[in-house]
Amino acid sequence: MLAIIGGTGLTELDGLKVEKEFADGTQWGSPSAPIVQVRLAQREALFLARHGNPHRIPPHQVNYRANLAALQKCGASKIVAVNAVGGVNPDMGATHINIPDQLIDYTHGRACTFFEGDLKEVTHIDFTYPYSEPLRRQLIEEIAKVTDDFSQLGTYACTQGPRLETAAEVKKLARDGCDIVGMTGMPEAALARELGIEYACLALVVNPAAGVSTNIITMAEIEKAVEEGMGRIRQVIGAMILK
Ligand code: HPA
Repeated sequence: MLAIIGGTGLTELDGLKVEKEFADGTQWGSPSAPIVQVRLAQREALFLARHGNPHRIPPHQVNYRANLAALQKCGASKIVAVNAVGGVNPDMGATHINIPDQLIDYTHGRACTFFEGDLKEVTHIDFTYPYSEPLRRQLIEEIAKVTDDFSQLGTYACTQGPRLETAAEVKKLARDGCDIVGMTGMPEAALARELGIEYACLALVVNPAAGVSTNIITMAEIEKAVEEGMGRIRQVIGAMILK
């Protein structure tokens, strides 16, 4: 079953019929919020609010392991992760949608694997291509139906947060080849791979990253872009559930 992880600006899938709610914990702790099973036409999907509902858990304190383990327990075999991001690439302005094909992890101190503790053997997942190509293709097909302002390749930089970056940090991200920057893409993507769950990221640019424009970044501009862009994201999610 398809699961959606909603980020900033997407704490509920309004308008969809809620069939069940799963509030169970996992051996890794409790997910950020109860997992909701929704129905659209005859199709079922799962939804989880990454930051809780209401939005209250900062990126570095999300229990990513509990979220992923709980989704798997509820039957998730594919995940579309929605992420609000900053645009590092100047061509990716507010409300642009990017489907990254690569990522660089700049986070630290996050519980980042299921493969630790009392192990029989050490496991290293292959992560050459961190996102599922079939799922990326499906997303691209649906996004193309709702907007021209999207790009199908990109490198997602995951920073620690919760503060935004300095202008020098964003320059370094650009030199590293990053196109967008967010705080929640990792370890989420790697944990999904460890569980064998297909995973792709649907990233909505909500501000030019620090120093990309001459202005400082305000919560008001982020909120405005979230409001303007989330309608398209919801359309894409609806179409993905019906696929
Ligand atoms: N940086 C990191 N994370 C973000 C940003 C940003 O500029 N905008 C939204 N999430």
